[in-house]
Amino acid sequence: MTNIAIIGGHGKVALHLARLLTADGHKVSSLIRNPAHADDVAATGATPVLADIENLSTDELATALAGQDALVWSAGAGGGSAERTYAVDRDAAIRSMNAAAQAGIYRYVMVSYLGSRADHGASPDDGMFAYYEAKAAADNYLRATSLNWTILGPSALTLNPATGAISVGSIPGGSDLPRAETSRENVALVAAAVLADENTVGRFIEFTDGDVPVGEAIAALR
Ligand SMILES: NC(=O)c1ccc[n+]([C@@H]2O[C@H](COP(=O)([O-])OP(=O)(O)OC[C@H]3O[C@@H](n4cnc5c(N)ncnc54)[C@H](OP(=O)(O)O)[C@@H]3O)[C@@H](O)[C@H]2O)c1
Repeated sequence: MTNIAIIGGHGKVALHLARLLTADGHKVSSLIRNPAHADDVAATGATPVLADIENLSTDELATALAGQDALVWSAGAGGGSAERTYAVDRDAAIRSMNAAAQAGIYRYVMVSYLGSRADHGASPDDGMFAYYEAKAAADNYLRATSLNWTILGPSALTLNPATGAISVGSIPGGSDLPRAETSRENVALVAAAVLADENTVGRFIEFTDGDVPVGEAIAALR
């Protein structure tokens, strides 16, 4: 059994992931900012931990994360203002990486998106510009840490039930992938598989819903 914390614990991917991990016998702590979300989190078997990551310092976050073995970032401002997008998706994410190192947590899984990169090519007028910039900054910061990181890059997310099967890209940006969306439940299955497989450390895994069982697709990365 491992102690695993999920930041953005009431998110749609995070709730699926908490269910999967607790069913596997892990002890999950889900960080949430809204006390009204605690019951939904508890229903997954996870322990809700109140923590507004936008306003917590690195030290405070490290204290909240003490005793964890692994950390999953699945939070996001979710299309809020550019200011909030930078505050959550970039700045709070980076603080969480520093806090993880401070708390002695070496395994870090980041939920990013397919195509995340600094030269994303979007213009500053693009409504997604701040998101692309923030995610690239956070992902690149993570790559430069000494954490055992894995970055997940799913395509556009859906609420479809898990198919349990994905396609993993082998070209950055996923141009070899089908033009498919990704079930949030499949993202949770991939995150759980990655947490169980140290061979995924140091990888940016870009994927969509597809036809290879998740376990097989992740094992094939070895
Ligand atoms: N949407 C897509 O098509 C897409 C595609 C690829 C990748 N992604 C990535 O996948 C991630 C997970 O997706 P999802 O659908 O599960 O997201 P989600 O349901 O929007 O969950 C994000 C969570 O982050 C939490 N959060 C935001 N600000 C916070 C704060 N200051 N303190 C604590 N928690 C905070 C939110 O809590 P509140 O409910 O309290 O706001 C929410 O529960 C996204 O963040 C995005 O980066 C998305």
